[in-house]
Amino acid sequence: MGEAADGQVSARAAQGSRHTPPDTRQSAPDAEGLDNGVSGDGVPGDRVPSVAGKVAVVTGAGSGIGRAVAQALAAAGWDVVLAGRRAEALAETARLLGPRGSDGPAVIRVPTDVTRPAEVDALFAAVRDRFGRLDLLFNNAGTFGRSAPLDELSYDDWQAVVDVNLTGAFLCAQAAFRTMKAQDPQGGRIINNGSLSAHAPRPDSIAYTATKHAMTGLTKSLSLDGRPYRIACGQLDIGNAATAMTGRMATGIRQADGRTAAEPVMAAADVARTVVHMAALPLEANVQFATVMATNMPYIGRG
Ligand SMILES: NC(=O)c1ccc[n+]([C@@H]2O[C@H](COP(=O)([O-])OP(=O)(O)OC[C@H]3O[C@@H](n4cnc5c(N)ncnc54)[C@H](OP(=O)(O)O)[C@@H]3O)[C@@H](O)[C@H]2O)c1
Repeated sequence: MGEAADGQVSARAAQGSRHTPPDTRQSAPDAEGLDNGVSGDGVPGDRVPSVAGKVAVVTGAGSGIGRAVAQALAAAGWDVVLAGRRAEALAETARLLGPRGSDGPAVIRVPTDVTRPAEVDALFAAVRDRFGRLDLLFNNAGTFGRSAPLDELSYDDWQAVVDVNLTGAFLCAQAAFRTMKAQDPQGGRIINNGSLSAHAPRPDSIAYTATKHAMTGLTKSLSLDGRPYRIACGQLDIGNAATAMTGRMATGIRQADGRTAAEPVMAAADVARTVVHMAALPLEANVQFATVMATNMPYIGRG
């Protein structure tokens, strides 16, 4: 198969190497519905749904929010598939996840460019080959793109952002949807990484703002089309988590009134906590939209 001893999977090699996957499937809910943590009379039981043997794909796992979410999911017991373009960044995330015991969660790396349909197909084929199923996609890979006055933005600048934030997110969601629809037990969850820019723009960010608004359309369509197949989809809209993308927030970024000002930021780990909560819910429940933002950042109150 395509998995090297250090856990990196060559997606293309894995594509051509079918084997019987380990049976990591969850048992079907019992008559009282206890497997989803809800007792027979509809009162929340004291059983939290187990994530043992559940498989998550995190795109953009080599840095920032993706890395923090991968760490939090692995710490919670998920098997985690790390995807992103830079193999060395994925290796560093895997290293931060710590040594894996033989009975601990598995972590594999599949270098993937989400803008390339064949690479996305190969990523999800590698997941099916290695684990036999997929329970969660954290659809996180994204780019801010070049910040420029609207009339100066080139076609290539525009297209580069659309390719990653919209087309890449669609391709990953579609491949996850196909996998979740076909597997037994059927279903799974997709969490799209939106943004406060899915609600309100920053100056000179038309491509980022438009694609993050479009992410809301992806989330709603996935939620509706997923209903017959037990596929839940939710969206997390983040404001000012400290990552490479938001370096300018702390040093000074242009405001709507033309000033440049530093803005409060928060830790990416605080975003990851929210993702772990959304991911751990039984499929009968869904956080449809959530906002996690630096408490005092300019957004609420028109500034
Ligand atoms: N930080 C915030 O406050 C904030 C706020 C709102 C929304 N977000 C969203 O959160 C997500 C992660 O951003 P971040 O803040 O963690 O910034 P980041 O550290 O720059 O992360 C972006 C990630 O996306 C990956 N990526 C970019 N292009 C890709 C491609 N073509 N194929 C595969 N992976 C690709 C990058 O990995 P490679 O370069 O290795 O491919 C990188 O790991 C983005 O969708 C962003 O819009 C962040």
